Amino acid sequence: MDMSSSSRKVSIPAAALQGSLRDYRAPTGPDLVGRVDGFFEWQDLRRRNEVWPYARSTETAPATFCKVRSDADRSFQGINFASQDYLSLSSHPRIKQAAIEAVERYGVHSAGSAALLGNTANSLELEAKFSDFLGGREVVLYPTGWSAGFASVQGFVRPDDHVVMDVLAHSCLQEGARAATQNIHHFAHLNTGAVIRRLSKIREKFPDAGILVVTESLFSMHSDVPDFAGLREACDTYGATLLIDCAHDLGAMGPGGLGNLGATGMLGAADVLIGSFSKSFASNGGFVSVKTRSAAEYLKYFSATQTFSNALSPVQAAVVATALDIIRSEEGDERRHRLMDNILYLRRTVENTGLRALGVPSPIVPVFVGSEALGRLIARRLPDFGGIANLVEYPAVPKAESRFRFQVMADHTHADVDRVVVALGQALDAARTDLELCVTTDENPLKSPGTAASAAA
Ligand SMILES: Cc1ncc(COP(=O)(O)O)c(C=O)c1O
Repeated sequence: MDMSSSSRKVSIPAAALQGSLRDYRAPTGPDLVGRVDGFFEWQDLRRRNEVWPYARSTETAPATFCKVRSDADRSFQGINFASQDYLSLSSHPRIKQAAIEAVERYGVHSAGSAALLGNTANSLELEAKFSDFLGGREVVLYPTGWSAGFASVQGFVRPDDHVVMDVLAHSCLQEGARAATQNIHHFAHLNTGAVIRRLSKIREKFPDAGILVVTESLFSMHSDVPDFAGLREACDTYGATLLIDCAHDLGAMGPGGLGNLGATGMLGAADVLIGSFSKSFASNGGFVSVKTRSAAEYLKYFSATQTFSNALSPVQAAVVATALDIIRSEEGDERRHRLMDNILYLRRTVENTGLRALGVPSPIVPVFVGSEALGRLIARRLPDFGGIANLVEYPAVPKAESRFRFQVMADHTHADVDRVVVALGQALDAARTDLELCVTTDENPLKSPGTAASAAA
């Protein structure tokens, strides 16, 4: 396909640059299946106009340079900042070897729930190693990080209990809460004062209810971090339980890979700690960690995604165990060092171009764009210039706060960073021109406030 920017179609219907997934979340009418057609019409309009930058597939390993096929069957390649393999372990020779050995020994499947015969010597070894990593806490393994997050709330909370959660807590935690109780209280992102006020009110009215406070140790759309000590103190004052999801920073950040909690000496602050293996441990899978054997055993039989879902495969368990060995070794320190060096360099380079990197340094570098229309047009152009990064738009982030989420890897080089930031700048310029040229309806969504002008902060 000819991808020179001059050959690209710029006449894009306004509807492809407007609207969001939120518009299709609650379709109405008696035909449960048929009533969802509107979503496909809107999505396909976007797809046909190359402004649906989702559901892409890789045709090579998710390394720093990657071949990709779009959902509209367009093939491209470039510098990859869209994979969450922060420590670049997914093609590590030791990890590949561990996977091969596990296949040789077990075949490829665990063939059962962990509650029945799904555990293997590999998963038991991983449980023990992870427990040691977390300072002796109990660990329960789950087939995905999502199922671990869901289980960590659903497994403990009952209908008369209360969940007090950061409004931006991950979908798995939100859905776990919804499955468990109607008493869900969202607090403004990172607002510890709001948590204290809410806890005080709940405790006054419901002296005997369980209260679970839910947050993350690194928020993945904003790259920001809560006040762990303040939340711990609030939970102690009001007799609440603190749950922290460390999916994005465990392994990749902090001393010995213990994440932001390790870096602040607050690992023990979480009564319930959950995480995913899919960001830094080179595999699908996740865990819930608690402080007592009784709490762990309870989860094994009362959290649905543990009891009624097939266990982590022996290959995944071997991969995660080997990744953990590397994470805890000198090589792990060296990889985290390179990763942080790349993060800081990317943030600096982005800022030097006049764009804004949001949040604090972490493997996620959100680069602010603003309007959804401009974000979609940039996403369409970025591959032309050899850049790969994920667009995040409403409702994953607030309206008119679209951003590109750059996910940094240890194996990136400064040259990769330079090239991708240049590509982003070129795509932004091209998108601004597209935006001017776009033939749209009378009401041009591209000319609304907060578009091109707000991209450079
Ligand atoms: C904060 C958080 N928790 C849990 C998950 C779920 O993990 P996984 O994708 O490994 O199932 C994710 C992944 O997107 C996440 O960002």
